[in-house]
Formats: sequence, structure tokens, C-alpha cells
Amino acid sequence: MALTGIKGFNDILPGEVRKWQHVEATARRVFETYGFAEIRVPVLEKTELFARSIGDATDIVEKEMYSFVDKGENAITLRPEGTAGVIRAFIEHKLHVVDSVAKLYYMGPMFRYERPQKGRYRQFHQIGVEVAGVSDPKVDAQVLTMLCHFFAEIGLTEPRLQINSLGCHDCRPEYRRKLRDFLRERLGSLCDDCKRRYETNPLRALDCKSAGCKEATVGAPSVLDNLCAGCDEHFARTKGYLDAAGTVYEINPRMVRGLDYYTRTTFELVTQQLGSQSAVAAGGRYDRLIEELGGPAYPGIGFALGVERVVLLLDDEGYGRRPDLFIAFHGESAGNETFRLMSRLQRLGVTVEIDYEGKSLKSQMRRADKFKARYTLIIGEDELSKGAAALKEMDTGTQSEVALDPERIAEVVRGGTILP
Ligand code: HAM
Repeated sequence: MALTGIKGFNDILPGEVRKWQHVEATARRVFETYGFAEIRVPVLEKTELFARSIGDATDIVEKEMYSFVDKGENAITLRPEGTAGVIRAFIEHKLHVVDSVAKLYYMGPMFRYERPQKGRYRQFHQIGVEVAGVSDPKVDAQVLTMLCHFFAEIGLTEPRLQINSLGCHDCRPEYRRKLRDFLRERLGSLCDDCKRRYETNPLRALDCKSAGCKEATVGAPSVLDNLCAGCDEHFARTKGYLDAAGTVYEINPRMVRGLDYYTRTTFELVTQQLGSQSAVAAGGRYDRLIEELGGPAYPGIGFALGVERVVLLLDDEGYGRRPDLFIAFHGESAGNETFRLMSRLQRLGVTVEIDYEGKSLKSQMRRADKFKARYTLIIGEDELSKGAAALKEMDTGTQSEVALDPERIAEVVRGGTILP
């Protein structure tokens, strides 16, 4: 029996890869316009890094990590997200000494042992950014504006930006207490997960999808009404800068993130088109994480977008590959000449397809149609003796004779018109 891949781990086949390349190239272009530089970090890190950053009591750390002990008895984990490794590298290489503000972006596979479904996989890919060193809300607004700019460039205007503030280590404990008090009498209606998280993280009940939790949290105190003066001002200024940048957003006071490191601004870009996997990108501020991981007391903010989810939202149109030229031939010497021409044309940057299997002329032309080649050239004994052949532009049907000279053919194919 043939072996298959692992559940939740996808092959990305050539047709699909073109969309991925488009997403990746657009992200690079947009992020670099905003002064971000790429960083590449390993897919494996010490397990402790994720436990200390994402949080021991989160779903990711409790249930979803691919962790194992390697042959040297080290506890290591396939990264479930990108922030922890990037911040670890930032601290380890003292990037704050190079510049007091680090603006970094990254892309690559992440791994979470979740139940696979459309838009949710066990190996998935993120493109993310992290800014270390600035607490000013201008940066919050810039990062969000850049995220929306990326989506506009990629041609997706449907996902909506939702923002919230989760407060800081001064005001959140008090809010958590208030929310716990509110939920105490409603504990029976909460789902098992939220019951379990009631002590450690009661906020999760606010965005839980279970009917019981939805009902139990109606009328719950809002985090936004319980921010300290500093967080309240930070959120107000963030909104002001978003308005100034022309970035459209909604406020969602129930948005709670599944990772523990967040403080103040948090956000998600949500779509209606992917069922329950509605977040195509998400992130927020983490003003204590860098210090907690042993680095300088630097604030930080970032986001990651899910590449699979973005690709699912893209149309199929416009990603097809059209070779410039298909050369059909009949006869052995014409086959040799075709091969010689193809090799030279490819070195001149022209994409050329031929038949490798000695098929009939008719079947070669069917293949040219299938490839949707822009031009075709047919070479037989006559053409060889003349040193010229008919070059046909497939979209217009225009045909004219060209010398079997690679430079000349390349010129015509690139120029897009057949000159007499
Ligand atoms: P996250 O919300 O866990 O945040 O993931 C960010 C995005 O990754 C999600 O919005 C989603 O598009 C995608 N994603 C997550 N899990 C899966 C999955 N199993 N299958 C497919 N796509 C998935 C983070 O990871 C944070 N590190 C973001 C961040 C960066 N915060 C600050 N800086």
C-alpha cells in the first residue's frame, strides 16, 4: 500500500504554490516599505520558551504542542507560533544594542496538534511581524495600518479589523476578579473548558463559542470599562492614530486572545467566509514579554497572519502559467534543431515547452493549447532547409515567418507583436 502524508500536514502543489508566492512576495514588499527587516529563526526551540511566553495554562501549551525529548535528553518543541522564537533571538543577539527599535518580519511553518478542518491544520504557515522597543500608540496604529494595507494589496477587502485593549498588569487582575465574581453564579452554564479556566483565565469565557458561555456572559463587565488611566489613554490614542491613518476598525470588547503574553492593544482580522476559523490574522501588544524572557524592559507588538486562510480567500483567477512559446516538430533533424533552439531561448529568458515523447504533430498542437502557449512555432524538413518557420501568435491567430534564429525569435516573443 502506498504511504500517505500525516493528517493535518498538507502538500502544497505547484498550481497552489503560485498563490503562496504571491502572498509571500506581497508581504515582503509591503512590510519592507514600512521599514521591516526579515529574520529567520529555527522551527525547534526549547519547550520551556513556549511554556514561559505563551503560558502554561493555555490550550496551545497544555494540549497542542509537538514536544519531544531528543537524543541528547533535551526537551524541545516544534514552534506553535513565531513570536517566542523571534523574541528569544532578539534577546540572545542583543538586537536592542544595534538599534533601540527592532522591526522584524518572518514567515514559515508552525505546528499545533489541533483537530484539522478547513482553515485549521497541524502544520500551518504564518507570516508575522514583531516590533520591539516602542510603547507609543503610533506604532500600534502603524502595525495595524500595515496589516490592512497588505490585505488591500492582495485584493482582499472583506476581512474586518477588530480591536480591543486587554489592559495591563496593573488593571487586569482587578478586572479578572470582577469577571470571576460575575461568573460565579453562572458557573454551571459554562462549558467544561471555561469552567476549568475559571480561576486561571476567566476572560476566555467572553469569546467562547459554546451556547452556555455565550448566555452566561451576557451583561458581563467589559474590559474597556475597567482599564486604568494609562491603558485607557493608550487605547484612545491608538484609535486616534488609526483614524488619522484612515484605517477602518471595529471595537470588540469581547475579543480575548488565546496566548497569555498580551497587554493593552489586541486585534484580529476576521472573515465571514471560513466558518469558525474566522481569524485570518491576529496579534497585539506584549509589553512585559521581553523582560520576562530575560531581555531588556522593552515593550513589543506584533501580529501573524495565517497563510492557508489568506490563500483560501483568494480567487483562482490569474495564477495560471503561460509559456511564451511551444515548438512543435516533425522528423528527427527537426527534433534536434528544436532542442537546440529551446536551449538557447531558455538562456535568453524565454519560457519554452516542447514534446519529449515523439508524438504526432496533432497531439503536439493539443499540448500547446493545453499549455495556453502565447506563441507556437512548427518546424519540419521544409523549415529546416529554408532556415525559417511560421510563428503564430495564439490569441490573435496572426502568423508570420521568422528566421530560426534564437535572438530574433526572442525579440518577437518579448515584443508581443509579429513584425513583417
Ligand atoms: P494566533 O492567533 O495563535 O497568534 O495565530 C495567528 C494566526 O495564525 C491566526 O489568526 C490564524 O490565521 C493562523 N493560525 C493559527 N492556528 C492555525 C492553524 N491550526 N491552522 C491554520 N492557521 C492557523 C499568534 O500565533 C501570535 N504569535 C501572533 C502575534 C505575533 N502576536 C504578537 N505577535
